[in-house]
Amino acid sequence: YESLSVAELAKKLHREPSELIKKLFMLGVMATINQELDKDAIELICADYGVEVEEEIRVDITDLETHFEQEVSEEELRERPPVVTIMGHVDHGKTSLLDSIRHTKVTDGEAGGITQHIGAYQVEVNDKKITFLDTPGHAAFTTMRARGAKVTDLAIIVVAADDGVMPQTVEAINHAKAAEVPIIVAINKMDKMSANPDRVMQELTEHGLVPEDWGGDTIFVPISALKGEGIDQLLEMILLVSEVGELKASPARSAIGTVIEAQLDKGRGSVATLLIQDGTLRVGDPIVVGHAYGRVRAMVNDIGRRVKDAGPSTPVEITGLNDVPQAGDRFVVFEDEKTARSVGESRAMTAIQAQRSEKQRVTLDNLFEQM
Ligand code: GTP
Ligand code: MG
Repeated sequence: YESLSVAELAKKLHREPSELIKKLFMLGVMATINQELDKDAIELICADYGVEVEEEIRVDITDLETHFEQEVSEEELRERPPVVTIMGHVDHGKTSLLDSIRHTKVTDGEAGGITQHIGAYQVEVNDKKITFLDTPGHAAFTTMRARGAKVTDLAIIVVAADDGVMPQTVEAINHAKAAEVPIIVAINKMDKMSANPDRVMQELTEHGLVPEDWGGDTIFVPISALKGEGIDQLLEMILLVSEVGELKASPARSAIGTVIEAQLDKGRGSVATLLIQDGTLRVGDPIVVGHAYGRVRAMVNDIGRRVKDAGPSTPVEITGLNDVPQAGDRFVVFEDEKTARSVGESRAMTAIQAQRSEKQRVTLDNLFEQM
């Protein structure tokens, strides 16, 4: 910047112009709000705030997405666990399937640790991890996808063998197709006398999911979530399909990812479950989450254990944010707290402004409706 007015610089620094005028006064410069500042004066003030001029320009870009792009070299990339969402019609056994998976294959092998689980968890199969999102499948897909966050690598569509394809089954298929993620079909309740897997396959074929035996490329796994049958095969298929996707991430970079859920806890304040999608998150990291910011105060893994760091595809629960973010919000780690705070504050401001104009629009609409 060759020249900026006091007001313009104040805006870039996310400070009040009066604060800058005071600061200039302390530095021996009498200035008014519209006064032009030269390069030296700008640098002086920025230095006083402890920010490099160039850094400040970057901070001015309030769009978090821009911080997502970080140069990563090929040799930094490592295999990461797949992130899986389970979807399907009401009562077809999504929760039962998740329970069955969790009880048979918990990472830590300790059943007692599961109680405090955090809306997402990891299991280990043949020394490989799989991350499951335990949010209601559709919500995870709709709200997060609507906000541009691609969180899952793979969708499991659960269909009850005695009930067949139902409206929400079709909905789930459409969500998965729109998200362009591979689909594995789990035909559940195979233990039932009335189970009719052939009918399920027939009906799904009409929706473009054709089993391999019938010349298609969709994997179907018959299971009984209730009896724990077919679960191992299903998990193996998940690993097989994810290997094809060659899912990679760079544990060396600073963490980025998405909010799975968040709430205000009486004792702990803002508590957010994050899915780390790339990089490694550490306790103490300055972070911006949606329009909230802070330092990662404490981090808890999917079995309620305190951890100091967490890598790609890991779900963790963190505290230390100044506000409660929303599911689907992105998060980015910054190199220093000042920058995180500055970006967080300006994002909060933008959010408030957007909300205001939204309200105005709604009022106008209502007005037209009444006319
Ligand atoms: P919503 O969350 O309401 O959409 O249902 P859901 O898809 O999570 O189904 P849930 O796991 O709650 O199972 C619904 C009912 O089906 C429960 O009574 C389960 O016990 C039963 N159920 C689930 N899996 C099986 C199975 O493999 N065999 C049998 N016989 N019953 C099952
Ligand atoms: Mg359920």
